[in-house]
Amino acid sequence: MRRPYVKPLVRKLQSGFMNKFGQSPLYARRVCTEIDGVPISELVERFGSPLFVYSERRVREQWRAAHAAFSTRYPNVRFGWSYKTNYLSAICALMHQEGAMAELVSRMEYEKACALGVPGDQMVLNGPYKPVETLEAVLAGGGMVNVDHMDEIQDLERVAEKLGRQVNVGLRLNMDTGIYPQWSRFGLNLERGQAMEAAKRIARTGKLKLNGLHCHIGTFILDPKAYGRQVEKMVLFAKELEAAFGNEIEYLDVGGGFPSRIQLKGTYLSPDVGIPSLDEYAEQITSALWRTLPPGKFPALILETGRALIDEAGALITTVWATKRLADGTRAYIVDAGVNLLFTAFWYKFQVALDRQVPGPNEPCVVYGPLCMNIDAIDEGSLLPPLSRGTRLIFSPVGAYNNTQWLQFIEYRPNVVLIGTDGQVEVIREKETLEDLERREKLPERLKNPAARPRPEKRKES
Ligand SMILES: Cc1ncc(COP(=O)(O)O)c(C=O)c1O
Repeated sequence: MRRPYVKPLVRKLQSGFMNKFGQSPLYARRVCTEIDGVPISELVERFGSPLFVYSERRVREQWRAAHAAFSTRYPNVRFGWSYKTNYLSAICALMHQEGAMAELVSRMEYEKACALGVPGDQMVLNGPYKPVETLEAVLAGGGMVNVDHMDEIQDLERVAEKLGRQVNVGLRLNMDTGIYPQWSRFGLNLERGQAMEAAKRIARTGKLKLNGLHCHIGTFILDPKAYGRQVEKMVLFAKELEAAFGNEIEYLDVGGGFPSRIQLKGTYLSPDVGIPSLDEYAEQITSALWRTLPPGKFPALILETGRALIDEAGALITTVWATKRLADGTRAYIVDAGVNLLFTAFWYKFQVALDRQVPGPNEPCVVYGPLCMNIDAIDEGSLLPPLSRGTRLIFSPVGAYNNTQWLQFIEYRPNVVLIGTDGQVEVIREKETLEDLERREKLPERLKNPAARPRPEKRKES
């Protein structure tokens, strides 16, 4: 077979240092020929490319490891699955099977949880925008609501009146834990006294009962000690509330935010060395509880961990469509998936693996998708060897926030499959069709005939 002609280009190759195994980055490459025993070639043959692939084994293992990290250190632990991180029904159902509650921030997420059969008292409602009907539905079902702002307290009091009973609510706090920029848009600030003001307001009318505290300090928090500081402040505030109003705090919800094993752009260390283990987070949180709680008191510790539970269970298989040299000599690969599918590419650097061994030296490349927009780069700077059309590139981990933040933009969204613990592969979201996209559109009758352009009205001469 004749090989295609490629115009020669002289470029200095950066060989870099050898790693501790004596391998040079010039020839080191990551190869991934299968996921959970299913060959990449078989997955693509059956379900097409691009293709999101989830591993049920990884989901369950990660959930169990996280649960064990906390429940072996503290007696009263609950997890609320953060729907926004990944609300594919099959993923939520797996989390619920493992015992997670549903952590929700919208009517849509609430309706999803109901459709999945989550009991009302297993729901936690957060977020800055909670329409009154959603508050009412969650409270009527016995779920938890964490108050975001003062106006919501009034809404909740109206709901309590309507339900004809006092209702339990939690208070979302924001605070200084040494993580900057501080997430101060959500909840009521502790240090400036907003949270105490809200507690007084709640106590004044007696329509609500404050029985929980919530705080989510941010996402991808690399310092486990920040959680220790958060928990200490939460417990201290709970004690102040008890002293002032006599009401006991029954749960401390510490939100989510633990990182997954992925490289955040701008960080130097690789995830293998730069990301603390879940045990380190659990140790900080639970030892702060043991240090500060009164003896014999064990309020529920609620965790709303999202990304750290699901990210590594997801991979995206893509296919090289073309290769080219950019004007500055950079090697570029065009693949069939772009930021429409990997929205988190804007702040993460994924691992890129090849589906086969490929000869030739590596060089820094750019990998971009089909969007015809300059922002559409899903990898920049990875060292890749010369690849030909048809090579599969496997991006991972991609399980967190991509299947919720993906865009229906220019391309259809592809199949999503789940590899079961028995190796069976099932579609959990079908590739979209034009019919899906246009289902909600209405084409006015007068626009249906492309030839029927109305004649411009003649201007009257004055
Ligand atoms: C209130 C709340 N809980 C939980 C999460 C999940 O966070 P993560 O995926 O970083 O664990 C978020 C995400 O922003 C959140 O806002």
